Amino acid sequence: MACLFAFLFYILAWIFLLYIVVSFFVFKGWRYPPYLPSLGKVKRTLLNETEKILSASSKPLVVADLGCGDGRLLFRLARQFPQHQFIGYEWNPLPFRLARYRLRKYPNVRVFLTDLMQEDLSHIDVAICYWSSKIEFAEKLKESMKKSAVVISEIFEITGWKIHCKVVSRIFGFRTAVFIYRVFDQKS
Ligand SMILES: C[S@@+](CC[C@H](N)C(=O)[O-])C[C@H]1O[C@@H](n2cnc3c(N)ncnc32)[C@H](O)[C@@H]1O
Repeated sequence: MACLFAFLFYILAWIFLLYIVVSFFVFKGWRYPPYLPSLGKVKRTLLNETEKILSASSKPLVVADLGCGDGRLLFRLARQFPQHQFIGYEWNPLPFRLARYRLRKYPNVRVFLTDLMQEDLSHIDVAICYWSSKIEFAEKLKESMKKSAVVISEIFEITGWKIHCKVVSRIFGFRTAVFIYRVFDQKS
């Protein structure tokens, strides 16, 4: 029996690895960030900073994870803040399905299988992201998001944007940060 489980685990591990490699090419991993879940202390830092904004707001906010992966960040936030609305955009079908399954019990979350670069982001109040700093991403947010919106970026700075606040954190013992931006500062 143990041998059968070990064999199944081995096969599944190979299928998963193959999926990651194929996804890298299909979803242009050299241009857009691949599926790499938030981990460690920096994930906690990003959640803390988002929680501060959500707790302080007396009106319901729309919060989006731009490339939500398996939905782990939305899961934590949606459970804690039923009064706010959450949106996940994800274009890779495997993490999208994991996110949809994980978030199925939360009526305040919607997850879309889509290219977020083609989406209208003007209704979002708070965006969280874990993206490499590509100029087209910066331009998309600047043109599509409203002035009052806030963007919280894990590890990567948004190219050319003025930082409102930088919170130092760590990942696997290495120093890193979470960057907080106001869209207003980029448009003025
Ligand atoms: C680094 S992962 C972060 C996942 C999640 N936010 C987290 O912190 O655990 C980035 C995610 O963005 C997704 N992604 C990249 N480009 C995208 C695009 N243009 N539209 C939608 N999703 C995209 C990837 O498939 C990947 O799952």
